[in-house]
Amino acid sequence: MLKVDNLHVRYGGIGALRDVSLNVAVGETVLLIGANGAGKSSLINAIIGLVPTSGGTIRFNERELVPISCAERARSGIGYSPEGRCVFPSMSVTDNVLCGAFGRGRKRQLQALDWLKSIFPLLADRAGQPAGQLSGGEQQIVALARAMCSLPTLLLLDEPFLGLAPIWISRISNAIRELQRRGTTILMTEQMARPALKLANRGYIMRSGEIRRAGTAVEIRDLALAEEYL
Ligand SMILES: Nc1ncnc2c1ncn2[C@@H]1O[C@H](COP(=O)(O)OP(=O)(O)OP(=O)(O)O)[C@@H](O)[C@H]1O
Ligand SMILES: [Mg+2]
Repeated sequence: MLKVDNLHVRYGGIGALRDVSLNVAVGETVLLIGANGAGKSSLINAIIGLVPTSGGTIRFNERELVPISCAERARSGIGYSPEGRCVFPSMSVTDNVLCGAFGRGRKRQLQALDWLKSIFPLLADRAGQPAGQLSGGEQQIVALARAMCSLPTLLLLDEPFLGLAPIWISRISNAIRELQRRGTTILMTEQMARPALKLANRGYIMRSGEIRRAGTAVEIRDLALAEEYL
């Protein structure tokens, strides 16, 4: 479904990704783990088109993404939940979710919203509340729902557990499982390898802008233990 080959990203003189290759098959959840600055967000942001690439290819369902805009990548079926959630604080929960399907037509937006409310009751309970008033965990649910509102087939999740207490890590894990059950393919990043590996089929370990290891969730757990990512 997603195939990244020999990808390079540079910020001015700084190389953030070097020769990165990975793939994600339909129905899989794939985890990227690595310490601060390893290049996880750069990779996610290059796939959705928020940072330009300086070499390599990104294919999504056989289509080359590098030449096409961020909006067109989203329209082709990629959802994106950014690191730090980035909800619009003064907008209501409902409007935050709906803007994930901006330009898709009111009827489709509202159908998606109803579907998401049935999965995540918080969206109905707090519908009119400004998203900035919610807790970090609640905001992560809003960010997940916003990313899913366009009914993507591939969801990019950048550090969904960032800054969350254990109870919310488990609630967000359950929310992600619900999306998995409904057939969403996921590429996620995390520094918290232990809970993230429970959700993943496979993983890659990144360091200094490169992929150092790849393997099944069990193999990555053993490697991560040895390399102190847990
Ligand atoms: N906009 C930017 N301009 C310049 N350098 C950047 C920019 N964004 C990231 N970098 C650098 O690129 C490298 C990779 O950063 P990136 O944010 O992709 O890592 P990360 O694995 O997501 O880290 P974290 O776990 O802290 O989110 C780092 O050295 C970082 O300082
Ligand atoms: Mg990051």
